Amino acid sequence: MLPNLDPAVIAARIEELRRQLGSRVTILGHHYQDDSVIKHVDIRGDSLELARKVEDIESENIVFCGVYFMAESAALLARPGQKVYLPEMSANCVMAQMAPADYVETVLEKCNRHRKVIPLTYVNSSVAVKGVAGKFGGAVCTSANAEKMMRWALGQGDAVLFLPDKNLGWNTADLLGIPESERHLLTIRKNGAEMDMDAVNNARLLLWPGCCAIHARFNVRQVESRRKENPGCRVVVHPESSPAVVAKADAAGSTSYIIKYVEAAKKGDTIVIGTEINLVERLMEQYKDTLKIVPLLESECSHMDRTKPLNLQMALESIADPGNPAWPSCIVTVDPVVAANAKLCLDRMLKEMQ
Ligand code: 13P
Ligand code: SF4
Repeated sequence: MLPNLDPAVIAARIEELRRQLGSRVTILGHHYQDDSVIKHVDIRGDSLELARKVEDIESENIVFCGVYFMAESAALLARPGQKVYLPEMSANCVMAQMAPADYVETVLEKCNRHRKVIPLTYVNSSVAVKGVAGKFGGAVCTSANAEKMMRWALGQGDAVLFLPDKNLGWNTADLLGIPESERHLLTIRKNGAEMDMDAVNNARLLLWPGCCAIHARFNVRQVESRRKENPGCRVVVHPESSPAVVAKADAAGSTSYIIKYVEAAKKGDTIVIGTEINLVERLMEQYKDTLKIVPLLESECSHMDRTKPLNLQMALESIADPGNPAWPSCIVTVDPVVAANAKLCLDRMLKEMQ
């Protein structure tokens, strides 16, 4: 029988299942999820907050409304016997896909021939990449702690390879005052065969050439136009935006940073926000009586948007009625061979954050 597709019926069924499952399930949701999904979550947050919460969760089932790498990190941090579900298994991160683990390993081997290069991988990377980074003595970072973790990584070896986001890497280097002459953007074509080894061996910061397609849509012209249209406004952007956009903004930070920035604004202020549109629209609605919130540009993460209430309902049905083939399996597991090094990599970040 086909499920009822009426949004009100789906929402009611999700709430019924949540009541029925009680403490057996905890639902997590990233800030970029649509309101129709976020209204059902127990814990919402940015990547760092959600990763930190996983270890405290006691329920045997964790449903992660977000994208694949987030559920993988949750699966790494989950207790033995706990299951992690990603309601829509095709929800991925375009940026994470720009760093295939075998490429990362080859490049790191080349970089480490003559000195010690420590990988610092943005949490937006596959668990296989985290495993490779862990093996090379590296750690994970998120947009909320990139500055602290880059400082840490610089203290562990001769140089740092930041991946996969060249923008977050560059913006963080700006905060730390690393001269541009000490940074090198890698060429990874042909599995690293075209790398400029002189430049690689002389740089303090190596940057993987990945980026987020959603934040790459923001440009300086848009910042200037929004400022002209909204005299006196302030502009806050996510640090996955280009360094030129960050330089033109008043502030840059993670999704939680942006939320706090808006919370701290005074009645009547105008804030222009450069990040994924679901979060911007939620803030627009939340502050409609006190602030004017303007998107820098409407930019949607189509992968974040793949998780619909129906997917969440199906995931919960599969927990309430295990083994019934009517419910697609959406359990995320991690290869145990990869898991040990990947967990080491993630734990290094969590330890630094204590
Ligand atoms: P946060 O680390 O701010 O949650 O961002 C994650 C992300 O995917 C941004 O595009
Ligand atoms: Fe990945 Fe960008 Fe989507 Fe964030 S917004 S999940 S970085 S593709």
